[in-house]
Amino acid sequence: MINLKDVKQNQQILEFINQTEEAMEALSYTNHGLRHSNIVAERAMQIARNIGLDAREGELAAIAGFCHDMGNFLTRTYHHFFGATLFSQVFLDKFEPRELAMIMQAISNHDKEEMDFTHNISAILVLADKSDVDRSRVTEKDMAKIKTDIHDRVNYAARGSMIKVENPLAPFGSAQGKGSGQAKKKRITLTLKIDTNFCPVIEYFEIFTERMIFCRKAAKFLGYDFGLVINKFRLL
Ligand SMILES: [Fe+2]
Ligand SMILES: [Fe+2]
Repeated sequence: MINLKDVKQNQQILEFINQTEEAMEALSYTNHGLRHSNIVAERAMQIARNIGLDAREGELAAIAGFCHDMGNFLTRTYHHFFGATLFSQVFLDKFEPRELAMIMQAISNHDKEEMDFTHNISAILVLADKSDVDRSRVTEKDMAKIKTDIHDRVNYAARGSMIKVENPLAPFGSAQGKGSGQAKKKRITLTLKIDTNFCPVIEYFEIFTERMIFCRKAAKFLGYDFGLVINKFRLL
């Protein structure tokens, strides 16, 4: 059975991620390489654990998280489709068929306009991915250029991002998902710290409103509300 550890050591996968990192830097995009891959994998595992999914689902969500952006070196516009295809080319016959299909679907779905959810892994990936807003993602070194690009500006102003399941369940306990019920407040909250001396909070919404809508949809699929806290102020 292939685990996250195996995927992280796969030379072909690492090369796709490496090529993506270089391609995105060349285009002056924020980091989509190993840093982002590791963070998204870690967050996906954490969310899966805290909503009570079983350990294997957590592993699959983390694998999808690690590989989700690796198609960017082929095309930015369709990177989600290509990422899913590349994944299957590397791991065809190595995963149980349903697991392979679920990971492919999650990768393919993570950046689509017509995004919708059919399983937990795909919803978790969206929350893990869209929550990674941080100064360390800015690859541009020239401060004048950072200040003139809104994506760089907002990311540079972000001094921390955290996504957390409020009132988490016991690690890898009872399975949760669509339609499951729980008495406590069920909320998955994104907490951001934004340096408003560098950019006003409104600029965050200017570029990330769509992402927040995706996150809300993903949380809802998992049976949770989506919460948003910026600079200690709860907006959702
Ligand atoms: Fe992506
Ligand atoms: Fe991503």
